Amino acid sequence: MTLVFENLRKQYGHHVAIEGVSTQFQPGLIHGIIGPNGAGKSTLINMTAGSYLVSGGKIILDGRTLSGLKKYQIANSGVARTYQNIRLFDQMTVLENLEVCFYPTQVGQVWREILWPPFATKRRLKRRDACMELLSFFNLQHHADHEAGSLPYGRQRMLEIARALVTNPRLLLLDEPAAGLNHHETAELTAKLAELRSPDRIMIVVEHDMDLVMSVCDRIVVMHHGKLLFQGTPEEVQESSDVQLAYLGTANDIDDIKAAAEDRRIKLGIRARRRS
Ligand SMILES: Nc1ncnc2c1ncn2[C@@H]1O[C@H](COP(=O)(O)OP(=O)(O)O)[C@@H](O)[C@H]1O
Ligand SMILES: [Mg+2]
Repeated sequence: MTLVFENLRKQYGHHVAIEGVSTQFQPGLIHGIIGPNGAGKSTLINMTAGSYLVSGGKIILDGRTLSGLKKYQIANSGVARTYQNIRLFDQMTVLENLEVCFYPTQVGQVWREILWPPFATKRRLKRRDACMELLSFFNLQHHADHEAGSLPYGRQRMLEIARALVTNPRLLLLDEPAAGLNHHETAELTAKLAELRSPDRIMIVVEHDMDLVMSVCDRIVVMHHGKLLFQGTPEEVQESSDVQLAYLGTANDIDDIKAAAEDRRIKLGIRARRRS
């Protein structure tokens, strides 16, 4: 299973937002997409999830061309996403926000639920258990009956990711999951993302928080003015003079990146020593 971008292009009117982007994303890895505001990161996510049509090129998941499919067809292919701006059902409870994402995928299931109440009850309980398990993973189980809109902002961000996971997606797209989180919440999110890494799942994280990106991403794509400027490991990104000049800008930013990458090297070193 691989996600392939083939010579992708996106135009809004006369404005070219994405041009000539070709790359691949692998399961078992967390891929970061970074770049300044307006670089085209969200556009890539929106085209992959089918929210925006591509203007040129192809998006292929596991040999199947996604670009051109309807949004629900893409979701049924195992693609789930979160948004740069939170989009929960505020008036529904936390648990309902997850339950609502379960839907019967076969016509027969609907009829069995209508005609045979015990079957419906059994399925409802099973759904509830699966949702509660996800809520527990994100430490949200005590909020299950609270209105989603009443949760603190950081919890709402976690709930959005939990909801994206309900369908157990093969491709998980997260658009700035750490936006607006405090230091403690970002650290919690970073740990959760690492736990979600799975051989059956491709994860793509668009993010500005360099600590998060450098510590949890295995590969990073750097976007600049709608083009793919650089791709590589966090260490390679940090060492690339192209990236430093074109994207990172100020000396302060570069120092932050280097510190985060150094921290990652230390952590990786500890892991490697533990293994040996
Ligand atoms: N729906 C839209 N209509 C018109 N222009 C858009 C739309 N979405 C994004 N853009 C433009 O496309 C460019 C890339 O935007 P975006 O993908 O949101 O960048 P990023 O997520 O990297 O900040 C920007 O110049 C932005 O103004
Ligand atoms: Mg964006």
